[in-house]
Amino acid sequence: MNLFNSPLAITTIFIFIFLTIFTPHKATAATCLPDEEAGLLGFKSAIRSDPSGILKNWIPGTDCCKWNGVECHFNSTRVQRISLTGQPDENPKSILSGTISPTLSKLRLLDGLYLFDLKNISGPFPTFLFQLPNIEYVYLENNNLSGRIPENIGNLTKLYALSLVGNRFTGTLPSSITELTHLTQLKLDNNSLSGTLPKALNKLVNLNYLSLEGNHFQGTIPAFSSNLRSLRLSRNNFSGGIPASISKLASNLAYLELGHNSFSGRIPDFLGKFKALDTLDLSWNRFTGTVPASFANLTKIFNLDLSNNLLVDPFPEMNVKGIESLDLSNNSFHLGKIPKWVFSSPIIFSLKLANCGIKMKIEDFKPSETFFYDYIDLSGNEISGNAISLVNSTQYLVGFWAARNNLKFDLGKLKFGERFRVLDLSHNAVFGKVPNSVVGLQKLNVSYNHLCGQIPKNTFPASAFVGNDCLCGSPLNPCKKPS
Ligand SMILES: *[C@@H]1O[C@H](CO)[C@@H](O)[C@H](O)[C@H]1NC(C)=O
Ligand SMILES: *[C@@H]1O[C@H](CO)[C@@H](O)[C@H](O)[C@H]1NC(C)=O
Ligand SMILES: *[C@@H]1O[C@H](CO)[C@@H](O)[C@H](O)[C@H]1NC(C)=O
Ligand SMILES: *[C@@H]1O[C@H](CO)[C@@H](O)[C@H](O)[C@H]1NC(C)=O
Ligand SMILES: *[C@@H]1O[C@H](CO)[C@@H](O)[C@H](O)[C@H]1NC(C)=O
Ligand SMILES: *[C@@H]1O[C@H](CO)[C@@H](O)[C@H](O)[C@H]1NC(C)=O
Ligand SMILES: *[C@@H]1O[C@H](CO)[C@@H](O)[C@H](O)[C@H]1NC(C)=O
Ligand SMILES: *[C@@H]1O[C@H](CO)[C@@H](O)[C@H](O)[C@H]1NC(C)=O
Ligand SMILES: *[C@@H]1O[C@H](CO)[C@@H](O)[C@H](O)[C@H]1NC(C)=O
Ligand SMILES: *[C@@H]1O[C@H](CO)[C@@H](O)[C@H](O)[C@H]1NC(C)=O
Repeated sequence: MNLFNSPLAITTIFIFIFLTIFTPHKATAATCLPDEEAGLLGFKSAIRSDPSGILKNWIPGTDCCKWNGVECHFNSTRVQRISLTGQPDENPKSILSGTISPTLSKLRLLDGLYLFDLKNISGPFPTFLFQLPNIEYVYLENNNLSGRIPENIGNLTKLYALSLVGNRFTGTLPSSITELTHLTQLKLDNNSLSGTLPKALNKLVNLNYLSLEGNHFQGTIPAFSSNLRSLRLSRNNFSGGIPASISKLASNLAYLELGHNSFSGRIPDFLGKFKALDTLDLSWNRFTGTVPASFANLTKIFNLDLSNNLLVDPFPEMNVKGIESLDLSNNSFHLGKIPKWVFSSPIIFSLKLANCGIKMKIEDFKPSETFFYDYIDLSGNEISGNAISLVNSTQYLVGFWAARNNLKFDLGKLKFGERFRVLDLSHNAVFGKVPNSVVGLQKLNVSYNHLCGQIPKNTFPASAFVGNDCLCGSPLNPCKKPS
């Protein structure tokens, strides 16, 4: 049989050639350059504590290309990449303590340094990177680095990606960052960076992922290049409006996350033209006015969070194909009913419509698909009726919040699935007994209803039960012994 007559064989050969060329492999016999080995061993000796033994096979005289996390170039024993990943959990056994030794500058051909979740790698930004002519990828995520991002960061001109997520960096984002024109990803989330953003960030024409969440940045947001797909600025102190320059991102932007800042002004009409928009988070700001009618054109939106602003009616009729999470809570909406387009969404995980001016019977909320709901928050509306069949129809429900409504049903008959954890029915007209099934919940609040009888043994505070007709037993007063 001619091997090359078989398409499968040809494919296999191509895959083999592809893998051979493009996977940095671990060379077999030869040992590493003494200088490079010394550079790596210098790194190891600056790690004071490695309880999980990530570096235990970094042994002098053995092939360094086989050391855990060391990758060599495909055609030599020169080190190309260092990639060490700890455990993302809180386990003290997985904490690596120490610093990043500058001896790594001996690895002249290094193009990537990846240190993930090592947790206690401390010290400043590793400035030896400036001496490495090929460095393209720097991911130093969830470590304990501190100090400022160097003013001359713009000298790392070959960088494609820079991530310093989850460290303790302080100070501003140096304006020289705008010189890194190859940069496709810049992630600085969860540090303590402050000040305003450099004005010329739009010089980063290749940038498609920018995330700066969880810092103390302030001021207005500058213009960005139109290649941006993700713009994540939540949990900072940005202010001002959403600038007109953002409209240039209409064709590519999929994630726009501006939640938990001090933004104000109206939501611009042009956002309705963002055809690729998957996630829009404007929550916890001071946006005013109406939600633009153009939002009817956001057919691909999966996550929409406009909660905790100052938005007013009317809310546009959306045309979603399906929405994973929707939160319109705590604005000045008077929705009247739960909107029809919410009912018809084929898949929905989280529906939060707290304080949305909804006046309806809960039995009239018959979504086409309830099965996958995991959070429902309808607190602070005028919703009446019996919630038992809604809760019963949601196999995966985790939390149901419906405080301050007019729900009226026998709590003893409420059934929920195995994942159920949070129930808040305070300030309703629920009656009957507190069922045993609630004692395993993480949070319970049935205060201010018409419940009666002995409370099953539980660990909730009294405030979860007060204000009922005749509940008794711990944490409230003991029940009267039958005489
Ligand atoms: C390895 O391949 C690169 C090109 O991909 C070449 O520049 C370099 O000289 C080669 N090194 C050796 C040791 O063959
Ligand atoms: C990070 O460093 C700070 C200050 O030295 C220290 O308090 C903290 O415990 C360190 N974090 C970890 C995970 O060890
Ligand atoms: C983190 O490293 C510092 C020294 O840099 C050390 O004092 C501290 O004990 C380490 N923290 C943990 C949790 O190992
Ligand atoms: C950074 O680049 C500037 C010129 O662009 C040069 O003067 C300076 O020496 C460089 N610094 C480092 C640390 O490479
Ligand atoms: C930042 O921290 C928050 C809160 O701890 C966490 O939910 C988020 O995933 C972190 N962001 C990144 C990019 O790791
Ligand atoms: C947020 O920014 C404003 C100025 O726009 C400033 O007055 C305020 O102190 C900042 N708040 C925080 C928590 O940094
Ligand atoms: C939706 O988009 C179409 C085509 O771009 C436009 O004609 C229409 O006015 C838009 N609808 C709204 C409500 O803005
Ligand atoms: C609504 O606002 C209240 C009071 O600030 C807050 O406790 C609650 O978490 C908010 N609900 C939602 C869903 O954001
Ligand atoms: C809904 O009620 C039926 C009949 O009582 C029961 O078999 C089912 O387990 C309930 N589902 C949930 C999620 O409580
Ligand atoms: C239960 O709700 C009441 C009324 O909203 C509140 O005062 C109380 O703190 C809540 N208790 C718990 C345990 O959530």
